[in-house]
Amino acid sequence: MKKFFLLVIAVVTLFGCSQGAGGQKSSGYEKLDEWTQIWKTGQQTCFGYPANQESALQDFYEWYVSTGMDRVNLNNAGDPMTDDPWSMSTQAFEKEVIEFFTPLYGFDQNDVWGIVTHSGTDGNNHGIYFGAKYLYNKTGTLPIVYVSDEAHYSNLRLCDLQNLEVKLIKSDPMGRMIPEELEKALDPERPALMVYAMGSTFKGAIDDMEALNAVLAKHPEMAVYRHVDAALFGGYLPFTEHQKMVSRKDQHFESIAISGHKFFGIDSPSGLFLCTHKVYDNQNNYNVTYLNGNMKMINCSRDAVQPLKFWWLIQKVGYAKWSEQANAMMDCTEYLAQELEKISWPCWRNEYSNTVFFKRPAKEICSKYNLALGYDENFGGELAHIVVMQHVTKAKIDGFIKELK
Ligand SMILES: Cc1ncc(COP(=O)(O)O)c(C=O)c1O
Repeated sequence: MKKFFLLVIAVVTLFGCSQGAGGQKSSGYEKLDEWTQIWKTGQQTCFGYPANQESALQDFYEWYVSTGMDRVNLNNAGDPMTDDPWSMSTQAFEKEVIEFFTPLYGFDQNDVWGIVTHSGTDGNNHGIYFGAKYLYNKTGTLPIVYVSDEAHYSNLRLCDLQNLEVKLIKSDPMGRMIPEELEKALDPERPALMVYAMGSTFKGAIDDMEALNAVLAKHPEMAVYRHVDAALFGGYLPFTEHQKMVSRKDQHFESIAISGHKFFGIDSPSGLFLCTHKVYDNQNNYNVTYLNGNMKMINCSRDAVQPLKFWWLIQKVGYAKWSEQANAMMDCTEYLAQELEKISWPCWRNEYSNTVFFKRPAKEICSKYNLALGYDENFGGELAHIVVMQHVTKAKIDGFIKELK
């Protein structure tokens, strides 16, 4: 009888819910265990997309579960920038997140409004919506949106959603909006809503805001709003010597959007949106008595956990370690470009960028390294790129180069 019980325990241990493939703890679901393995393997060589694969949230999850927070349903509906946050929200922490980033993007603490968004796209949605309402409320005329043909597609989608007229401005071969093309397209009779790319998605180009602002300044009577789409670059640039590139004090913009899951390594989509008070004050009012006052943001229910993760990372990683990471990324980007050049593999890179684009390698390499694909006749046609995030180390770059050779 005893032998029989021992046998049953051994069988349950072997085939039951303890171990999945590769020695990891089993979920009890075969399909999920298989995918866990695929995700964990893929994470090591995920080079083509701007996600930091070194999330520092393990102790957050331990705290979250051990305190029973996983059984508390919180919601950040409402304005986090008030001094009277709703108790079943994390708005008090969300406000501190905005306050931490306020000087990094060149805003003043007494002239900023912001939220933790659901993604970079959500931040752009707010930028375009706030810009359009600000300009319309100021002039009584709907603006034209000007955006480069290399900017992220979400900006076009959002203009479509918001029924705004768009003029797509040609960019130069490296991906920057061409000031002369903007000048040709400008209609000074209508307000201008500029969407500046602070790191175009494929080539990593930054629109030359100084030159583009100079074009706009030729029409002092024209009302202007500038939103910066800094989904990826807005993460690391504030922690480098190039902080001025994303500073409102130097670049003169009204709002900015950044993704939280890119540089900051939050493990699912999130982001930041910041604008000036003048912009906030010129939005349409929706006074909602059952929430904490005037709702200016687009969403009613908003995630309460992402702001908490952001806050946690500010405490645990913070300015010093983000600076180290940002500088290491810049260094590894340089290394990748040099190593590609050493083997005469055609490659290109914009200034301040952690993205290197190059002649497209064989299909198997593109697939193994999850390379993002592009096409441009100016660079010989078929291209791919690597976005050098925290997990793309020199050792991994060496492995990639070896396979290319
Ligand atoms: C320049 C740029 N803007 C916006 C986005 C969209 O951001 P999200 O994926 O956070 O919605 C991306 C995504 O890669 C991007 O590269």
